[in-house]
Amino acid sequence: MKQNIYDNDTFFSKYQEIRARENNYNNLLEQPNFFRLLPTLKNKIVLDIGCGIGDFAAYCISQDAKSVTGIDISSNMIANAKKLHIHEDLYFEQVAFEDMKVSNGTIDFISSSLAFHYIADFQLLIKEISTALCEGGILVFSLEHPIETANMGKENWITNEEGNLLHFAVDNYQNEGLRTLNWLVDNVIMYHRTMSTIINTLIENGLQIEKIIEPIPTKEALCDLPSLSKEFRRPSFLIIRAKKI
Ligand SMILES: C[S@@+](CC[C@H](N)C(=O)[O-])C[C@H]1O[C@@H](n2cnc3c(N)ncnc32)[C@H](O)[C@@H]1O
Repeated sequence: MKQNIYDNDTFFSKYQEIRARENNYNNLLEQPNFFRLLPTLKNKIVLDIGCGIGDFAAYCISQDAKSVTGIDISSNMIANAKKLHIHEDLYFEQVAFEDMKVSNGTIDFISSSLAFHYIADFQLLIKEISTALCEGGILVFSLEHPIETANMGKENWITNEEGNLLHFAVDNYQNEGLRTLNWLVDNVIMYHRTMSTIINTLIENGLQIEKIIEPIPTKEALCDLPSLSKEFRRPSFLIIRAKKI
């Protein structure tokens, strides 16, 4: 099932508020580690899946990529992307990944930041990515870590009466599939898969894993956002780089 939650106005404005904060998890934890895995972008044909407001796609253009296409299911996101980033080699399209058509072996680099946990059919997603990549092409993606997505929408942290964090609870880990949670609004849909499913799906589709990061904060990031200390107790994100062989 496809859900276009970023076109829910309440969700979108709350999401924009979070992203507008300088010290958020994206800026301090996910993005710096995502950037560590990037290939050389010069002269590359790039596809960014779940491109949001297009900042990463525009970054690829600034690094002399040959052409960059950002796709996103959300009209809010694509309207902002088109307004914010204008370049003759930069294209934005409002389309769900599931409905997109890409010619085989034509893309050098496919990126996706924090979108894959919204896509129901991971097997199909990775198969299509592998088909779209040229030989030696690179995929870099981040997603919510499986130990975060496992719980059936229940609170992961167990606290004492004073509200101090005691443990991080992981439950229903092997029970893959749809999760409905309250994040910014009720009934947000995500999909949980185990670490082995994620890794084996890449392997089975001819994608060689080159690096995996479960990010931890730098000292500077911890000063800017002390709640990041929780990242030493459990990872929030999983970031993977793989090569089409
Ligand atoms: C957390 S946001 C990340 C946006 C952007 N990658 C960034 O890092 O700023 C996830 C994005 O994935 C998009 N998305 C969710 N499901 C999608 C689908 N099936 N096809 C394409 N985009 C999707 C959402 O609309 C949203 O813009």
